[in-house]
Amino acid sequence: MKLFRLDASITPGTSASAEIADLAEAGWTAANPGTTVTRRHLGTDALPGDAWTLAVTAGFTPEDDRTPAQRDALALGATLAAELQDADAAILAVPLYNYGVSQHFKTWADLVIAGAGATTPVLENTPTALVTTLGGGYGAGAPREGWDHSTPYLERVLGDIWRADLTVIKREFTLAATTPGMEGLRDIAKAHHDAALAAARDFGSRALAAS
Ligand SMILES: Cc1cc2nc3c(=O)[nH]c(=O)nc-3n(C[C@H](O)[C@H](O)[C@H](O)COP(=O)(O)O)c2cc1C
Repeated sequence: MKLFRLDASITPGTSASAEIADLAEAGWTAANPGTTVTRRHLGTDALPGDAWTLAVTAGFTPEDDRTPAQRDALALGATLAAELQDADAAILAVPLYNYGVSQHFKTWADLVIAGAGATTPVLENTPTALVTTLGGGYGAGAPREGWDHSTPYLERVLGDIWRADLTVIKREFTLAATTPGMEGLRDIAKAHHDAALAAARDFGSRALAAS
């Protein structure tokens, strides 16, 4: 079995999303000892910021006229898309930054689409865990209800465009334990943490059903 693992935390040493994704990965690989893992860490190894422009404009340029940089960008997009298409399962750990996804994640997703084509379901029927962590909370009744513009985007891309068999594991209030003024949210934050860890264990155990 092949597992694809993506991380996007810019603070990997203390990453809450990685903690949850690690648990899901451990469960999956324990159930399938021969599993090989392909890793992408966008927080520590960001993709070139201009690669997407180069890949897209390469598509508008006759093949013989493409620059070496355009060819490299197209090849990178194809490589990233193939990493998903080759996977039997996928785990993506994607934090909320500034009410959206990071530029690193967006560049990666845009390059996958440039490499595979806009409507190609690169994760079709692939068991996929989207782990997302948010410092605050944006659910019903919250002062900033609806300000999480990351999770809906991720669900559209992973579930609706790439057709993954998607499990969303969302942990809100990760900053409550350490941020002054959030003390009153610590109980709900712990409940979110516990629920996310349980969901990660559940995802790992799905390997038993898949194997
Ligand atoms: C630069 C930066 C921007 C952030 N923006 C937001 C935000 O808009 N809303 C929010 O709820 N949390 C925000 N956070 C908090 C992160 O979502 C939170 O710390 C999360 O746990 C990060 O995931 P990680 O622990 O895996 O790195 C931000 C954190 C950083 C470092």
